[in-house]
Amino acid sequence: MPIVAPSILSADFNNLERDIRLAEKAGADWIHVDVMDGHFVPNITIGPVVVEHIRKITQLPLDVHLMIEKPERYIDAFRKAGADIISVHQEACTHLQRTLQYIRETGAKSGVVLNPATSHQTLEYVIDDVDLILVMSVNPGFGGQEFIETSIQKIQAVRNMLAHRKVFIEVDGGINDQTGLRVLKAGANALVAGSYVFSAQRPADRIQTLKKLSASSVTA
Ligand code: DX5
Ligand code: ZN
Repeated sequence: MPIVAPSILSADFNNLERDIRLAEKAGADWIHVDVMDGHFVPNITIGPVVVEHIRKITQLPLDVHLMIEKPERYIDAFRKAGADIISVHQEACTHLQRTLQYIRETGAKSGVVLNPATSHQTLEYVIDDVDLILVMSVNPGFGGQEFIETSIQKIQAVRNMLAHRKVFIEVDGGINDQTGLRVLKAGANALVAGSYVFSAQRPADRIQTLKKLSASSVTA
């Protein structure tokens, strides 16, 4: 079964606790937290203070996606706030290897994120420093965007590059039951979904639908 990580960017921020508890109860594996700084991406969202509060209401691993410039400045803060997985953008790091190594030193799992235009080949020399590769299937900044088709090719390339390594391949942006199935077939094993889950009448059903998707399904 795939890892399902609902993105709280599309949750109801007036009822964040309710939505997170609902996701946990519905079988979500991780909570995906989108951190944006208004520089690396046009939008501004949440910081360590909110993560600290989320940490108090769920046992689930917090999957923190940093869409910020110079993310190395905030790794300690997010780790202290309770992040379990910390992912930085390849495009935002001058010294990517050092940053990934540092994330691991804090005890968190290290993730690296690729924008749609960034090649998987940029990760060739840091492949043993990552626990997770996050393939963006939209340009980061907002929920509710349309899935970019070339992501499928990139996921396959990442899968081939990883060979036997135990590294999560997570996909983020425009994921629903259909794109979700396709990215799993391409080799991904973790799905982020924001609007598909939280804009639905019954978010729990959507989480369940994603959990049941299987790469070996014949219906694609
Ligand atoms: C986009 C964020 C995503 C976003 C996905 O910049 O990284 O995690 O919440 O939203 P959907 O699933 O609606 O595309
Ligand atoms: Zn994200």
